[in-house]
Parts: sequence; C-alpha cells; structure tokens
Amino acid sequence: MNEKIDHFDLNTIGSDFINDPFPTLKMLRDHDPVHRNKDGSYYLTRYEDVKTVYQERSMSSDKVVAFKEKFGQCPLYTHHTTSLIFNDPPYHTTVRKLLAGAFTPRKLTELEPLIEQIVDGLLDKLEDLKEFDFIDAFSKQLPTELISFMLGVPEEHRHKLRRFSMAILGALDPVVPEDRLKEGNDAVTEFGQLLDDLIEHRRKNPEGAGQGEILEALIFGEHDGRRLTQEELIQNCIFLLNAGHETTTSLVGNGTHILLTHRDQHKRLLDEPDLIAPAVEEFLRFQSPLQIGNRLLTKDMTFSGKTLKAGTYVHTSIGAANRDPEIFDNPDQVDIGRNPNRHLAFITGIHVCLGATLARIEGRIAIGRLVKRFPDLQLSGEVTIMGLARFRGFNRIDMRI
Ligand code: HEM
Repeated sequence: MNEKIDHFDLNTIGSDFINDPFPTLKMLRDHDPVHRNKDGSYYLTRYEDVKTVYQERSMSSDKVVAFKEKFGQCPLYTHHTTSLIFNDPPYHTTVRKLLAGAFTPRKLTELEPLIEQIVDGLLDKLEDLKEFDFIDAFSKQLPTELISFMLGVPEEHRHKLRRFSMAILGALDPVVPEDRLKEGNDAVTEFGQLLDDLIEHRRKNPEGAGQGEILEALIFGEHDGRRLTQEELIQNCIFLLNAGHETTTSLVGNGTHILLTHRDQHKRLLDEPDLIAPAVEEFLRFQSPLQIGNRLLTKDMTFSGKTLKAGTYVHTSIGAANRDPEIFDNPDQVDIGRNPNRHLAFITGIHVCLGATLARIEGRIAIGRLVKRFPDLQLSGEVTIMGLARFRGFNRIDMRI
C-alpha cells in the first residue's frame, strides 16, 4: 500500500493535513477506506460506510470512557459528557425532545424576518467599512446574534461567545496541546457561570422571556416526567450556543470564499439568484464545517468488507464522504446547481443536526443578500484558516466591496 497511507494516523496529523485534507482523504477512500489508527480506532472515508455508521441505532455516542482518558476529571469532561451530542438514549432523547420544540418549522419561519433584519443591518455596516475582515464583520455576527437571542444572552456578553466556543470545540481535535486544554477548561467555567446566572434569572422571571426565546421552555419543559437539572441545563445551553454559531459562521465564511475563488459560480449565482438554495447545499458538501465525527460500535459490523468488533471506536470522515465519486459526479468541482446533493454535512440518524433548517435559512439569507447587494465583492488580502482538523472554516478573510 502507499507508504503515505501506511503511516497516516488521525491522532498525529499535522498542518499539511489540516490545511488541505482532501488529497489524503482521496487516497484513503481509494486504497484504505477502513483505516486503522495506532490506538486501534478506525477512520472511515467512504460515503456508504459513513452513512451506515449514522443510521445504525446500536452505535454509541457516549464518550464517558473516551473523554475520561482524553481530558481527565475537569470542566471540559463535565461539559462534553453532559451535552446531548455525546450521549445515547434515554438521556439523549429527553434533551433532544426538550430542545426540538424550539426548532419546529413554524418557530423557524417566525425567525426569518429577524434574520433578514440582522443581515441587512450587517450589510449596511459593510457598506460603510468598504474593506473588512469578513469573518469578524459579517459571518460570525448573524449566528451569534441569533442563538444569543434564542437563549436570552444579553448584548454585553455576546462578543465573548466565539472565543468560548473556539476554546471548547478546539479541545475536541484529535491532537490538543496543554495550553489549548487550559483555554477550553477556562472557557467552560466562565461560560458556565454566565449561564448559571441567566438560567437563575429566567427561573425567577419566566414572564420576562421575549418571543422566540427558548430558555424558559428548557427550564420548565418535562419529558417522561423529568426536567433537566441545573448542570444539564448549563452544559446543554453551552453546547447549543456553540453548535448554533460556530458551524454556521463557517458555512457563511466557507460559502462566500468558495464563490470568490470560483468566479464562474459567482457569476452564475448573480445571473440566477434562485440558485441560492442548491448553492448553500453545495457549500456544505464541498467544505463541510464539521469534518469528522465519532462513534463506538456496540456490536460487530462490516464496512467495505472489513469486520470491526464491538467496542471499536470509529471516526467518520464527513469531508471524504461528501467527495466520494461513487455518489457525487466530479466531486472536487463546485457546482452550485448540483442536484441531487445528498451530502452528510448534517449527518443522518438520531443525532441528525437539530439546527439544520435554521442553518440553511441563515446561509441562504446571508449569502443571497450579500451577493446581490455587493456584486463586485472580492478578496483583498489576508486569508487564515481556523487550523483545526474537526472544524473547517476561517479565522479571517479580508475582503472589499
Ligand atoms: C452549517 C451549520 C451546521 C452544521 C454543518 C452542523 C452540523 C452538525 C452535525 C454534523 C451534527 C451531528 C454530530 C454528531 O452526532 O456526530 C450536529 C448536531 C447538532 N447540531 Fe448542528 N450544525 C450546524 C448548525 C447548527 C445550528 C444553527 C444549531 C442550533 C441552533 C445546531 C444544533 C445542533 C444540535 C443541538 C445537535 C445535536 C443533535 C443530537 O445530538 O441529537 N447545529 N450538527
């Protein structure tokens, strides 16, 4: 087998892979789609295998054992092992049911005018600035505003959210240096205190909740006769705030960057604005904001002809699955009209992204209005990627209108 692939180990990847994982992912998918890492876990890169992992009900998302080894007893451990995403039924079902009420199509339709208003306000600011860091001035602003509004985070705290989420989510990377672990732990503690206060305040003043705010429903909602404890509330609100803005920031940042580096597609969207819906799907496929997932096998399973035993950890490459030529024609090309486009950016199965519809609405309104208002938008200087393996996006993109 290719020597590069023989030596590949997800737990020791470096900046080459992080900067551009796709050539390595292609080699893995072609030659070693069920790749064994040195710690005995496997990295799956074919679409059908990744989909099977997510559709199989017996797969476990519970990370108590894995995160005890990775983090030890610390705030990051408490946070991640209490979030619904890293739990199985019945706890997962309880939290998901309580959250789901806030994400019904009717509730999300009600949010659309607010999203349009936030986007137009941000576009006015871009017009004044003329030249700006797009991530800072635009792409992170909308999702931060929106999810803060939904959870009742006051204005004066909102600027801290991206720092918190980068620190907490960054600690999930396969390789995490000590200083990043400390930043992650500090972020959980500081964020937790802030939410503790907000939850206490809403508990005492339920009538003060604005329309569209969901905190009250999470505090007082019940499933199977049980309410969430204060710790469960805090950690799941932290998760929701992180999930709600980090990946959407990347969708808007990655999508706009794709357009500005694929001018034919940019022109196509200007000529046919109705392509914005399939364009957002293509951005999600081509540069998926969440690139890697994990599950634990609770029974023996076979992937691409290789049988893995119960108790094995598998890492799913969403990024590789979304460029599998068995499923997508010309997968390394951007086609904003691609149809069908059954990408796995939001995965599938019981943990399918709860905010997928909201993220799509945000992406369509933000990128659609941006492109229409500033047809001459262009890159103008520094472009810096986030530098994480699991989350794919930019820290900075200089642009001018
Ligand atoms: C482009 C933006 C987004 C992407 C690419 C994305 C992607 C994902 C993925 C891949 C998962 C499944 C992870 C796993 O189980 O391994 C997930 C779960 C989740 N996402 Fe998103 N997400 C996005 C936006 C949002 C937004 C805006 C929200 C909420 C406001 C949200 C809330 C959630 C929640 C609550 C879960 C956990 C679901 C569960 O475990 O049952 N996401 N997301």
